[in-house]
Amino acid sequence: MANHVYIACSLDGFIAKPNGSIDWLTSIPNEKDDDWGYSRFIKKIDAIIIGRKTFETALLFGEWPYNRPVFVLSNNIKQIPDFIRSKAELINGDLHKIIDLLHIKKFNNIYIDGGQTIQSFLKADLIDEMIITTIPIILGNGIPLFGSIDKELEFKLVNSEVLNNYMVKSYYKRIRNNQK
Ligand SMILES: NC(=O)c1ccc[n+]([C@@H]2O[C@H](COP(=O)([O-])OP(=O)(O)OC[C@H]3O[C@@H](n4cnc5c(N)ncnc54)[C@H](OP(=O)(O)O)[C@@H]3O)[C@@H](O)[C@H]2O)c1
Repeated sequence: MANHVYIACSLDGFIAKPNGSIDWLTSIPNEKDDDWGYSRFIKKIDAIIIGRKTFETALLFGEWPYNRPVFVLSNNIKQIPDFIRSKAELINGDLHKIIDLLHIKKFNNIYIDGGQTIQSFLKADLIDEMIITTIPIILGNGIPLFGSIDKELEFKLVNSEVLNNYMVKSYYKRIRNNQK
């Protein structure tokens, strides 16, 4: 059972430009049409929790990008559009309770996506594993991956690899006190 982050960020720690654009991710050189390990990662995932803003971005893609049940965190959206109602569900409230509920539904390995969403889960110390791919660009401004948290969270670097001689993908595991 674990909650996972799998995300790309700029050298200066942004996951999107201020207007939400991720064009700097779609222009990564990729002659072999590599998915950079995403399909290997998603195989172990049972469900995905995304923030409302990531959900709105996903709706703009020509095709629904997720092949796992999706739970959309929002206090504002009233309903999910008809065409994806079988694939996505609205949730809100206490994050610990949300995770407990998903575990009862046998969704044990959960992918958490969206900047504010990841930050909220980190604040609640609910992130166990993070795969962060650093793209060699300084955006200068944008939507941050991390924000302020009132305590330190220690992670262990499990593995790091250079992809396409271009970006660095690093795999971190949370170390809690009783695991030291
Ligand atoms: N670089 C990448 O790999 C990557 C990956 C994913 C997303 N992105 C980009 O990141 C941007 C979205 O990230 P974001 O940080 O702006 O927003 P986000 O985390 O996707 O969504 C934030 C929204 O989630 C809802 N929410 C409800 N409860 C929450 C809680 N406890 N904690 C946090 N959010 C909660 C709120 O919606 P309500 O206001 O409706 O209550 C909040 O405004 C998009 O541009 C997307 O394309 C990039």
